[in-house]
Amino acid sequence: MRRLKDIRPIELEDKKLKVLNQLKLPTEVEWLELDSYEEIAKSIEDMVVRGAPLIGIVASYGFAIGINQIFKEKGYIDIVESEKVLNRLKSTRPTAVNLFWALNRMWNKLTKYLAEERSSGEIVDLLFKEAERIDLEDYHANKSIGGYGQVLLKEKCNILTHCNTGALATSGWGTALGVIRSAYESGKDITVYVDETRPYLQGSRLTAWELVQEGIPHYLITDNSAGFLMSKGVIDAVIVGADRITRNGDVANKIGTYTLSILAEYHDIPFYVAAPTSTFDLETSSGDQIPIEERSEEEVKRCGKNLVAPDDTEVKNYSFDVTPASKITAIITEKGIISHVDEEHITKFLKYRGI
Ligand code: MRU
Repeated sequence: MRRLKDIRPIELEDKKLKVLNQLKLPTEVEWLELDSYEEIAKSIEDMVVRGAPLIGIVASYGFAIGINQIFKEKGYIDIVESEKVLNRLKSTRPTAVNLFWALNRMWNKLTKYLAEERSSGEIVDLLFKEAERIDLEDYHANKSIGGYGQVLLKEKCNILTHCNTGALATSGWGTALGVIRSAYESGKDITVYVDETRPYLQGSRLTAWELVQEGIPHYLITDNSAGFLMSKGVIDAVIVGADRITRNGDVANKIGTYTLSILAEYHDIPFYVAAPTSTFDLETSSGDQIPIEERSEEEVKRCGKNLVAPDDTEVKNYSFDVTPASKITAIITEKGIISHVDEEHITKFLKYRGI
């Protein structure tokens, strides 16, 4: 069996968060040290760190750091100030539900500890522990997703993936890319077709970088190559991640995912979504209610620093789209595989697993 090395995108050191600056990859490996919740909020907004699970993890550390700042400034944990920290971190990006899931979990812990009248110093330590638990749980979830998901792949296959769903988007293994890693590690003959993922180029800058680190065979392709490759019978399966999965199984993910799902259906190719159960949003009934982030015009008008469009062209830059449940062959989670993607099966699946 092959053994892949671990890539970690963040490290906690002395109550400070070190993050791998994803804006600099693949040309430079730069670590930034963040020691205030504002710096952490900015790092999420500016996509220094990105990817649904990682956003949630980083925000949890940011929350613990913010509460520690309040304690250091005031000598106690002020609940009004704490709520400001919570809301600032929640305001960073709207689509990935993992952010809200993780921050609500941190907030519930804080209010519980305050109600138990624990000392402020102890509460700060417990909040850091909770953030570390969220981080570690994500790692184990990824490994489990990989284990379940790799069984779905043939011994020799070509997989198309979109965006970056690997170690850099999570605590260190990946969801969709984690499935690919696990399949490769188990000895399968895998070739990955990596969409470059305009405009932010998470595919070319980040996924290709990870695959090079691991020595996993791959080809980088332009986003508009997918249909052609499918029509030639080159692609055996599509695997993508998710930023939010609603009660009926609709999936928000990086812009372009929906297009891939339609192409996959047309060419009779399985279309898999890999995500931890923290990505399910059971309070939202369907995908049309998911807030879709729109980002700056500059991301589209420029490639790096170079202008690739007239400066006064107007741009629409949607960061995510929604793939209807009906287009998804299966959702791979850390608790198993949901192979009928609809409200009834999702609700039962999660309920029987205590989620
Ligand atoms: O804008 P990003 O880079 O945060 O978007 C990332 C994605 O869309 C991923 O596919 C998704 O978060 C799943 S990551 C395991």
